[in-house]
Amino acid sequence: MWTMTIFPSANPSSVFFLLLLLVLHLCLLLGFGSPAASQEQQVGYGYDLRSVGVAPSGKTLTAELGLIRSTSVYGPDIQNISLFASFETKNRLRVRITDSHHRRWEVPQRIIPRQSPPPMLQGRHDQLQAHVISMKDSDLEFTLHPTSPVTFTVSRRSTGDVLFRTLPTLVFKDRYLEISSSLPADRASLYGLGEHTKRTFKLVPDDTLTMWNADIPAAILDQNLYGSHPFYIDVRSSSNTTSPPGFTHGVLLLNSNGMDVIYGGSYITYKVIGGVLDFYFFAGPSPLSVMDQYTELVGRPAPMPYWSFGFHQCRYGYKNVSELEYVVAGYANATIPLDVMWTDIDHMDGFKDFTLDPINFPADRMKRFVNQLHRNGQKYVVILDPGISVNSTYGTFLRGMKQGVFLRRGQEYYLGSVWPGPVYFPDFLNPAAADFWAREIATFRQTLPVDGLWIDMNEISNFITSPPVNSIDEPSYSINNAGVRRPINNKTVPASAVHFGNVAEYDAHNLYGLLESRATHDGLIKTTGKRPFVLSRSTFVGSGKYAAHWTGDNAAKWDDLGYSIPSILNSGIFGIPMVGADICGFGDDTTEELCSRWIQLGAFYPFARDHSDIHSIHQELYIWDSVARSARKALGLRYRLLPHIYTLMYEAHVRGAPIARPLFFSFPEDTTTYGISTQFLMGAGVMVSPVLKPNAITVDAYFPKGRWYNLFDYLRWVSSKNGEYVTLDAPADTINVHVRGGNIVVMQGQALTTRRARQNPFELLVALDEAGSASGEVFVDDGEAVEMGGAASEWSLVRFRNRMEGKKNLRLNSEVVNGTYAMKHRLVIRKVVIVGLQLKPTSHLNATGLGSNVSIGRQIRDGSSVVQIEGFSQLMGKEFGLKLEIND
Ligand code: NOJ
Repeated sequence: MWTMTIFPSANPSSVFFLLLLLVLHLCLLLGFGSPAASQEQQVGYGYDLRSVGVAPSGKTLTAELGLIRSTSVYGPDIQNISLFASFETKNRLRVRITDSHHRRWEVPQRIIPRQSPPPMLQGRHDQLQAHVISMKDSDLEFTLHPTSPVTFTVSRRSTGDVLFRTLPTLVFKDRYLEISSSLPADRASLYGLGEHTKRTFKLVPDDTLTMWNADIPAAILDQNLYGSHPFYIDVRSSSNTTSPPGFTHGVLLLNSNGMDVIYGGSYITYKVIGGVLDFYFFAGPSPLSVMDQYTELVGRPAPMPYWSFGFHQCRYGYKNVSELEYVVAGYANATIPLDVMWTDIDHMDGFKDFTLDPINFPADRMKRFVNQLHRNGQKYVVILDPGISVNSTYGTFLRGMKQGVFLRRGQEYYLGSVWPGPVYFPDFLNPAAADFWAREIATFRQTLPVDGLWIDMNEISNFITSPPVNSIDEPSYSINNAGVRRPINNKTVPASAVHFGNVAEYDAHNLYGLLESRATHDGLIKTTGKRPFVLSRSTFVGSGKYAAHWTGDNAAKWDDLGYSIPSILNSGIFGIPMVGADICGFGDDTTEELCSRWIQLGAFYPFARDHSDIHSIHQELYIWDSVARSARKALGLRYRLLPHIYTLMYEAHVRGAPIARPLFFSFPEDTTTYGISTQFLMGAGVMVSPVLKPNAITVDAYFPKGRWYNLFDYLRWVSSKNGEYVTLDAPADTINVHVRGGNIVVMQGQALTTRRARQNPFELLVALDEAGSASGEVFVDDGEAVEMGGAASEWSLVRFRNRMEGKKNLRLNSEVVNGTYAMKHRLVIRKVVIVGLQLKPTSHLNATGLGSNVSIGRQIRDGSSVVQIEGFSQLMGKEFGLKLEIND
């Protein structure tokens, strides 16, 4: 049992902590409620501090820890472990604990580059003193408590709030690591720790969050899914009596091994079956700054091509080229936007990657089809699965064999089974496999110039479960795989398979999707020279740097429609902002009403794709008139918002900001937003409030403080004094989308493809707040340069700011940060729409600054007004100042 120790400084928070420990201790004795309650035996006794050293900079501390007493549960304990805590930047604190004498598996530097560990510092052992480190201008502080067992805390200096405080039971064995932190149950709101399908975005206590990439349908709640992201953000509803709510920090455990994370409300426990404990704490203090700091470490989200923000149509089960042509024509005839056509494994010859079925999808007809798409300004994406058919007549297989790029088990290549039957899997840890993959992509593109690649089944999914061959296949701690502690080898490559460099699949399992994403991304760049589009099912920390993600196999059910919001918000938090769920549902048969509501919501997913299973009915959007109406309306708005959405892509790429954001990202001081899973924001101020229930014609939506203008009818607006729920009309063809006063949203005319839409002139929607202010920005480039906003490509960034001059006059200014692209292509703004002005029908309006031919129109209804300024042609790359005088 734990030894209770007196903490060095008995401030109120440590008294609270002592009480907490006492309660936990009692719970443990009684056998419930504590982090270790589920363990029948004592797993570990913790470690004592043997020596500690602090660097002269005061930014780094190293310590040697020794085991207190051994247990044999889950294997022998490691006797000596080393800890370091280091401020890598003022906003990032790293705390790493590993075996003092033996190197252990860690995510390789060449996969996620990061700082090297500092050298161990000369230790001095001081039992009585807590060791504190921090850094100038940092809001974080690390304290090592030399108690027995040793513990540490991470706290926020500005508020005194304790963010992470480890409990004494630190366990470090070869295949079992355990560490817990207490959390303030009443003040902490946690998000992340995926990938799982959840009813709510905010994590609910008493949950075991398992991370082990698996081909488990997203339609199943609360089980480990395709990706692993041991990262959470914690939004504190209060820090102390004086600070406002909303202080946010992030915590990453950078570890690729299987794990259970138990979130208990008042604690969080990590039970990990390998690797090291490598924590990163991100200071925030806002949700957006946490994302900036997180993606600075794990990789900035990859820029996505402009076309990928259009609408995508896919289905598993398209029978032949004629059917593809029929679908594309169906969209055109129904005047529903369609940018990208997809095929699933159906186009392949015997489900072999990089092949075409000679009967139903023959190369010449497919070529004509893709060329026609390209002439229409449309794109084409195909699927790839990692398993390469073992087949001596198959070129890809033969070349892979020759290059020796497949994953092994023992002396042999590991033989799995997927769609084509027996397969070998490329070992993407091997640089030669990435080269092989790139060459196969290039060769295939000579036959068919596909525009993007969809990498599926890369958890790795395997239709067989191979029997264990050694203990690595059956670690003694069973993570909660598939919700029933299924063996880790279940329907995947066995843990005893061996990658390049002698790395066990046991350790690298969760990295496969990330590595395949990187190889595919790099391969596409090599052969196209353009910005790649890669959609990956399996992901890990840092996947956003290479790929987009879809939430996997959901079901065509109303519940799944709702779950899609927490899922896409989670992906954003994981640094993969380009995300969507299968619109209208993948499994089961959709219904007209569900599909109609789904396209209304899906039109505002960052990645908007309709996809269905071979066993379900067709669900292309033109099939039902009501769905087509919803699609035209919702996608119509999406296409008009493309400049805004693309600017959000830029913000994601440079700052890690999610495209689809939880409400609390813009309103962290409003604690009601913490629990909202049924609405989200596109960027800072465009709020989507969908209908998620059958037979509903209204929706109860929460409006954080401010004015909110309906984007389908600017004259309708909601004024929310302090944040309130409002029941909105939501007739069958309508989704509610509002822009908050204070934002300037850059829009463009509607069209059926993004290529057409982006040829239209720009317009500015200036949504005024109570003070008559608003601001916004737009980023433009050619939409396909490999770099987004870098030195090697042409681009433009223009900021807009509106304010009142005196009581009556309004002034809108632009600031051109970079005008190159906009000037070269003579991009023009032809319209400014101002909503929220106090106007009388008789008010006289006069606009100056945009030339002499300006026409001003107005609409006034029930005290709301819309002013449209048109008839001018203002170069976007040139700064301007518009003055609007209002005389009553
Ligand atoms: C599983 C994927 O999740 C799904 O989207 C796809 O249709 C099937 N594999 C068939 O390739």
